[in-house]
Amino acid sequence: PLTTAPAPGGDLAVGGAALTELAARFGTPATVLDLDDVAARLRAYRVALPDADVAYAGKALLCAGLVPLLVEAGVRLDVCSGGELALALRAGMPADRIVVHGNAPTEAELDAAVTARVGRVVVDSLDVADRLAAVAARHRRVVDVLLRIAPGVDAGGHPAIRTGGDDQKFGVPLAGGRAAAVAAAIAGRRALRLVGLHCHLGSQIADTAVWERAVDPLLDLAAELPVALTELDLGGGHAVTGGTPFDVAGFARRVTGAIARGCSSRGLAPLRLGVEPGRAIVARAGVTLYRVQATKCAGSGRWFVAVDGGMGDNPRVALYGAAYDAHLVGRTTCAAWRPATVVGRYCEAGDVLARDVALPEDVTVGDVIAVPGTGAYHHAMASSYNLVGRPPLVGVRDGVARVLVRRETTADLLARDCCLPRSAPDAG
Ligand code: LLP
Repeated sequence: PLTTAPAPGGDLAVGGAALTELAARFGTPATVLDLDDVAARLRAYRVALPDADVAYAGKALLCAGLVPLLVEAGVRLDVCSGGELALALRAGMPADRIVVHGNAPTEAELDAAVTARVGRVVVDSLDVADRLAAVAARHRRVVDVLLRIAPGVDAGGHPAIRTGGDDQKFGVPLAGGRAAAVAAAIAGRRALRLVGLHCHLGSQIADTAVWERAVDPLLDLAAELPVALTELDLGGGHAVTGGTPFDVAGFARRVTGAIARGCSSRGLAPLRLGVEPGRAIVARAGVTLYRVQATKCAGSGRWFVAVDGGMGDNPRVALYGAAYDAHLVGRTTCAAWRPATVVGRYCEAGDVLARDVALPEDVTVGDVIAVPGTGAYHHAMASSYNLVGRPPLVGVRDGVARVLVRRETTADLLARDCCLPRSAPDAG
């Protein structure tokens, strides 16, 4: 995604488009998404897992410009809110390829899912199952559901994104026969058809053995149930860390092998695997461009480079202690490097983008800085803190760049404030 190829002068590029030009054309901050890279990663999943249901987890990044890539690649789309569902449907995602998630869906969200006739709803508790059954009965429909299980497999990682273990809000615990009781209750609802089990073990999991550990307990449960299931969805969480890409082929081998062995030893018909990668599809495809607004040396001796974005477009450093790199755009040689901490423009000392990175010592006001690896959970988690509008999302396909989501303007921000006089001129 971030290359030094073929742009003039060896400038940094995304999908063949020079970053200097993109910053000039679209302004900063801006997130640029290499759509060819996204398409290639979707294809790689389909090739490694030809017999599985691959669903892209839209919570990582969703916009209408991505939906044709999902359709082309023949993958499904996971949505986790009425907003994501509405966008997916309007952007042309076939409803039967949409999977709806949520531990606390509202009545309106359940109604929208049933009305649209989505392919699957993943239910996270008996309450949600009962509420969905009531909505489905009202519409005289039968909804295919997966029951989300907390299999007690703790994959470690940052506490905010651990989901497989026992002490977190998602899924029905296997322990004490609770999952079996809930599954049996769902199987008894006429408006629901229980087609499989689901789990999601956490985020940034690199060790493929972790998913394998969840297979046996889930198959034990499947073997206990009064209905024959057909699907086993192991969620997402495929790691994007450092320079090592997630081993999709190794994951496919291990997990499909474990499911085949586990089903046959229990006398179950083979269950179809489902996976839901989000980050692994889009994280590396994104690069965010910022412009330097000020530099200074703090009393501590630390050199700060302050840019026009920050925690509003990248809350991940403050939330999870995530580490990023930063590169100076438009210059490939430099006399001397100096450790710098790239900070944002928000009114908090924790508003850091990249800590202790090497930048040319003469970085100055007006320079463009590129932060790679910003495709997942950046645009999706951006806020308008400090009443700073969210940056645009620019897509590059076949070397051609276009705006996928436009910049949020001051007018957009002020429009929601019902007490402002409408006649006053806006700032921008
Ligand atoms: N499936 C389910 C049910 C999920 O809850 C998630 C992510 C995924 C799939 C996709 O996981 P991925 O493959 O993208 O890791 N905001 C955090 C990540 C939260 C992930 C929440 N669930 C971050 O920025 O790291």
